[in-house]
Amino acid sequence: MTVESILSASDAEKTAPSKPVPDPSRFSVLPRHVAVIMDGNGRWAKQRGLSRSEGHIEGAKTFRRIGEYAGDLGIRHLTFYAFSTENWARPEQEVKGIMKLFGAYLDEALERLDENLEKGIRLRFFGDKSRIDPELVALMNKVEDLTKDMTKVNLNIAVNYGAQQEILHAAQLLAAQCTEGSLKPEEITAEKLEANLYTAGQPPVDLLIRPSGEQRISNFLLWQCAYAEFWYSDVLWPDFTERDFDMALSDFEKRSRRFGGV
Ligand code: IPE
Ligand code: IPE
Ligand code: MG
Repeated sequence: MTVESILSASDAEKTAPSKPVPDPSRFSVLPRHVAVIMDGNGRWAKQRGLSRSEGHIEGAKTFRRIGEYAGDLGIRHLTFYAFSTENWARPEQEVKGIMKLFGAYLDEALERLDENLEKGIRLRFFGDKSRIDPELVALMNKVEDLTKDMTKVNLNIAVNYGAQQEILHAAQLLAAQCTEGSLKPEEITAEKLEANLYTAGQPPVDLLIRPSGEQRISNFLLWQCAYAEFWYSDVLWPDFTERDFDMALSDFEKRSRRFGGV
């Protein structure tokens, strides 16, 4: 764009929000797996005198925006924390609102299936599905099945997810194999345990992003984050932008990862 054309642009053109263009060449190294704790919806709503559910509506929009941006940037594995095993402790109305948003997202994923397939997006849902409404579970399974052959972007959404429960479940499956005689306790390796986690076949988390000012892991991907780089921000999730995501990536490329070495 020339200086002349900027100067001659109409006010509307100048102020129209342009969609940030993902540019992977800005980064010397990209994380293979980015995990995001989408936090701060409630505080965002409170600041505006809105209901917590309205905060979740905005948060869901941010999830779509950042998920798309990260995938377009070429991040191969993305895991977004949408609802924890502990979040059932919230008021019924709020939980209902979140589940409704989740249903809307699943409907949209099916409506936009061609677009998702064209982009090579494989969608997976991490978490215990047994406590989720069977209608939603049917949609989750359908979306997972229809995108299962895609390999470009692995988009994982954690719903009714708890890392301790995930590890416990993997341990139970291995213990059952020991009881039945197909496995000996001394044959249990980290690889065998990993093969029974939701992330089976996916790399460990390189970068964990948590907005909203909290600096804790809240039962998210405890095994997979063993050597993850943490990136915190005070921005509340509904306000989180592509620029914030870029900032996390810029910080990540400067980190010296030693994995216990020197
Ligand atoms: C994250 O935002 C969404 C979920 C946990 C479902 P919060 O609802 O936790 O927002 P805050 O932390 O109360 O601001
Ligand atoms: C973590 O956020 C869970 C999700 C973002 C889905 P919380 O808001 O539930 O975490 P705590 O309670 O502040 O640790
Ligand atoms: Mg929170």
